[in-house]
Amino acid sequence: MKIERVCVVGGGTMGNGIAHVFAQKGYSVTLVEAKQELGDKALATIARNMDRQVAKGALTAADKDAALARLKTATTIAEAKGFEFAVEAVPERLDIKSAVFAELSKHGAPGAILATNTSSIPIGEIAKSAADPSRVIGMHFMNPVPVMKLVEIIRAKATSDATTEMTRALTESLGKIPAVANDFPGFVSNRVLMPMLNEAIECLREGVSTKEDIDTIMKLGMAHPMGPIQLADYIGLDVCLAIMEVLDKGFGGVKYKPSPLLREMVAAGKLGVKTGAGFYEYPKK
Ligand code: 3HC
Repeated sequence: MKIERVCVVGGGTMGNGIAHVFAQKGYSVTLVEAKQELGDKALATIARNMDRQVAKGALTAADKDAALARLKTATTIAEAKGFEFAVEAVPERLDIKSAVFAELSKHGAPGAILATNTSSIPIGEIAKSAADPSRVIGMHFMNPVPVMKLVEIIRAKATSDATTEMTRALTESLGKIPAVANDFPGFVSNRVLMPMLNEAIECLREGVSTKEDIDTIMKLGMAHPMGPIQLADYIGLDVCLAIMEVLDKGFGGVKYKPSPLLREMVAAGKLGVKTGAGFYEYPKK
């Protein structure tokens, strides 16, 4: 099956980045958001991020215009009817994702592959709502999507070899590098990353060091592009907490216990960059 038409469900941080890269690489994309204003907002973000690429010489103005022309928004999945590939990037709740997969199953072309960008919900659970679980797979993009090279591909028990191979080839066509994991809590990326961020937050809570010095130690000492406290703010502290809870529930034991300070920050509504404050302040520009 040749993949030309792609449906992206959800236009938030991850969804707009995913729609951006598919459109940039020549696919016709329908971006589905619950309300037209949200779709318009996602399109404006994509245009702004493409402008950054144009300013850096990574994209020509003509290619930007062509990419935006391949991108349309819709408020229902039915309007994207006939897509060969879908990526779901709606909020991290199984009930919401299940409803999306049931709907995607009705409107795809025969044989369409349904991917989820979930960062923590088991792919096998989401696949239960699809008409054919062998065509359901995890496609975990990293933030910021247009910049990060990795796509973690997650196979559930029912995912077929053909689905995996098509998703791998599609990932490469986006100029990204696929790496495959099985369907365990947190997969590989978040099972390794989140306990590190959580431990950095524990260092702060216990007074081992200041947030600035924790970040400097990991940035300059381990050549990470961002320090762990800064990265937690960037990902979203609510997202970090939700993933730690999935790891804690899945594996138990001390090493996956969410930091009490992380819980406090989330309870206080300080979620990081997206709310203007987390461990650091992010004044509106
Ligand atoms: N769209 C397009 N381009 C973007 C962009 C976006 N949203 N965000 C940044 N860029 C581009 C910039 O234009 C710039 O381009 P250039 O290299 O051609 O000059 C480049 O990316 C670097 O950006 P900046 O110069 O603004 O800033 P930095 O050099 O500080 O880089 C960063 C920013 C790329 C975010 C870098 O700090 C980084 O790599 N941080 C770590 C990010 C990370 O670890 N992501 C994974 C998070 S985990 C995850 O997503 C999984 C989830 O399940 C939790």
